[in-house]
Amino acid sequence: MRAVIVYESMFGNTRQIAEAIGEGLGGAPDVQVLRSDLATDLTSRTIDLVVVGAPTHAWGLPRVNTRRGTREYVRKARGELTLEPGADALPGVREWLASLATLEAFGAAFDTRFRAPAMFTGRASKVIGTELVKHGRTLVAAPESFIVDRQHHLIDGELARARAWGEHLRYQTLERAGVSH
Ligand SMILES: Cc1cc2nc3c(=O)[nH]c(=O)nc-3n(C[C@H](O)[C@H](O)[C@H](O)COP(=O)(O)O)c2cc1C
Repeated sequence: MRAVIVYESMFGNTRQIAEAIGEGLGGAPDVQVLRSDLATDLTSRTIDLVVVGAPTHAWGLPRVNTRRGTREYVRKARGELTLEPGADALPGVREWLASLATLEAFGAAFDTRFRAPAMFTGRASKVIGTELVKHGRTLVAAPESFIVDRQHHLIDGELARARAWGEHLRYQTLERAGVSH
């Protein structure tokens, strides 16, 4: 089964979750984890599943100005946070979703966010899932959130949960595609 995981990440958490989901899906060479600004030529390939993830910013998907603001978070954290190279100035998942129209694949959405009821935190995955469905993709699982603490570090157990979620996505995709597994 061929899968691509497309993500953006400021502090590395969403990237780590994307990589763990990729392991759960079966890993390379059939599974690729791509930063959204580098995932520009997917339409020429055969892909069974596209998984899309982003950090939750201001109750939804990162925008140009929320990305730009992350440099200040890093400065205030005094060495406890680092910025992924160039991340605050690159186009992200919001921009990537705008180019989705011609990609044929099942879909799944995830985010990272704070631990609290979603009505207080927002959920980028909900926006991503809605956009995937709007573009004609069928979701193989409900949008999923992975949790960071107030210092923007993944809480214990989230990488293992992401791997397990990747396995779940693989099973669901194969089931729907009618492939034996
Ligand atoms: C500018 C900014 C806005 C944020 N807004 C929210 C928010 O509305 N809800 C929430 O749960 N977390 C919010 N967070 C926390 C992020 O979701 C968290 O830092 C993120 O999941 C880290 O992922 P990353 O390391 O991949 O960037 C915000 C973080 C930043 C930097």
